[in-house]
Formats: sequence, structure tokens, C-alpha cells
Amino acid sequence: MTFTAQHYSPLQLSDFLRAQARISAYVHESDLQHHHAYSQRYSAKVLIKREDQQQVRSFKIRGALNAILQLPQLGSLVCASAGNHAQGFAFACALLERQGTVFMPINTPKQKVERVKHFGGEYVQLCLVGDDFDAAKAQALDYCKRQNAYFVHPFDDPRVIAGQATLALEILHQQHSIDYLVLPMGGGGLAAGCSEVFRQLSPSTKIILVEPEGAASFQNSLALGKNSTLATVDTFADGTAVRRKGELCFTYCQRNMHQALTVTNAQISQTLVELFNQDAIVAEPSGALALAALDQLTEQIAGKTVVTVLSGSNCDASRMSDFLARSQALQQVASTTR
Ligand SMILES: Cc1ncc(COP(=O)(O)O)c(C=O)c1O
Repeated sequence: MTFTAQHYSPLQLSDFLRAQARISAYVHESDLQHHHAYSQRYSAKVLIKREDQQQVRSFKIRGALNAILQLPQLGSLVCASAGNHAQGFAFACALLERQGTVFMPINTPKQKVERVKHFGGEYVQLCLVGDDFDAAKAQALDYCKRQNAYFVHPFDDPRVIAGQATLALEILHQQHSIDYLVLPMGGGGLAAGCSEVFRQLSPSTKIILVEPEGAASFQNSLALGKNSTLATVDTFADGTAVRRKGELCFTYCQRNMHQALTVTNAQISQTLVELFNQDAIVAEPSGALALAALDQLTEQIAGKTVVTVLSGSNCDASRMSDFLARSQALQQVASTTR
């Protein structure tokens, strides 16, 4: 049983507020941190929404919980995920004592696999299949059909989008006047929900959407004029390595965005290393996308209030040396071209 576009009616403020009421007992109101070093560097007020503070260390708990709390009590649940949605799903399954099956790509970082087991415990069964998220999702949908189970989509479902949108409601409660909102983008659920809240409540805020260069399906789709599928994706930023945006997500994001950007793996690595060294924050590559894009916005954000979302921090320690090497290589190039 899956959601299809026929079920779609435009999301209203009341949907977002109901989602917030539904999940607020289980979700942490994360800090909106005024970051002094980035503010100084960009001559702007840079605020970071710290979704790494969630129990599952990403915003994904919001959408998964909002969706599952609206599904019938009987019947098993299934999800496909690059790793973070699976943790939100597993947390929700255990909390609500529901049986669930998780499909994740074979190359999912070990830390994410372990955390899914940790949160789901006896309630969740794990299947590692396929080379990337889209391949795992195909298997999950097939399994769902055979088992007549409910599919909890990681992004392209209005209940998931409304859950992710609660993050934007919190931001607007924490900071009133915002010039720019910079968001990371994978399948587009976070960007769709948050940009829609801002369109309705803070229409003057400019929405900037950021993808990794190796999985830039939104940029590609904008160039082609319709939602389109990439043949392959680079999984460096594993949380956002998605070949195609959700259909609903694409519609909202295309309408609400002011600008779409990509960042390289080296720029992501530099940001990860900076966050670690300056703030002792262990972000994951997708979690650092929005901050990594600020260098491209230097002129336009000067003197402005900028909110970025640090969306997740589930990362294997074994990747740190790679981040360090990429960051150092980028610095060397910068110093030789200066
Ligand atoms: C850390 C992190 N940031 C951003 C995203 C992108 O979210 P969405 O798929 O809703 O665009 C994900 C998706 O899993 C993620 O794990």
C-alpha cells in the first residue's frame, strides 16, 4: 500500500500544525544556534538549526513518526532508506510497538546500520540490498506488494513532508525575521515541507536548495524542465544520494525555491572538518551541505540573517581521514591560486 499522486491535496498550515501536535512529545525542539565564526566570515547573522540534536541524530524522526502515527493500527510497515529515515522509522516502530522491515543499500555506513538495529530492536527486521537507495526502494516496494504492508516513504508522501515541515515552524518560532533559508536536498521532503511553511508564513524569505554535485537530480530536472532521473549517483553524501526527486517534492520545491546550488565533495569535507575543529560537531556529509554552500553566497548574504539546517550527524569515524585529505587538498589548491 503506497501513496500515489491522486491522494494529493495541497498541504495547508493546519496540516503542519497538526503534525507538530502529533509528534512534539517525541521530537526535540532543536537549538537555532547563532554561529559566531560563520557570521564573522560572511558578515551576516548565520544561524544553524541543530537537527543533529535529535535522538536519531537527524530530522528524519519528524516525517517518519508523523506518517506512522496516521496509519491503521494493524498491518506491518516497510521503509526504504539511505540510513537516516530508517532510524526514524525504527525509532517509531519500537515506540509504537509496530513490526517493521527496513530496506537499505548494501553500502550503507556501518554506523547507520547499527543505529537502526539499536532503535528498532525486536520490532525491526533489516534487509541490505542494492547498490543505492533507488535499488533498495524497488525491492521494498516489491516486498510491500507481496506482503500487503504499508510503505512509509522517506520523502514523497504528504504526511512525511508535513512532519519535516515542523522543523520550519520551530525556526519561525525561534527567529522572526529571516532573509535566507538554506536547505539540503535529497529526495526533497525536507525542502518541500520547509519551503512551503515559509511560502505561507514568511514569503519574503529566499529559499536556497543545495545538492551534492554527484547527485544533483534537482539541477538536472530544472534544466530539463521536468522531474527526471539520473542514471547513476555518487554516494559520498549518502543521505542525499537519490537519483530522482519525489514527484510531490519536486512540485513544491520548483515553485518555492529562489536558487538551487550544488557543492563538491571537497567543499563538504572542508565544512565537516571545520565543524569538528571549531565546534566539536560531528556532522555527516549530507548534514553539512547547506553550510558548505555559503561560500557561493558570500555577496548576497552580507548584512542578512541566514538560517541553515545541519540536518544530520550519523557518520562512521572511519571516514574522517578521507574528509581530512579532501579538505587539505582543497586548501592547497586555494593557496596556490591565491
Ligand atoms: C542528513 C540528511 N540531510 C538531508 C537529507 C535530505 O532529505 P530529503 O530526502 O527529505 O530531501 C537526508 C535524507 O535522508 C539526510 O539524511
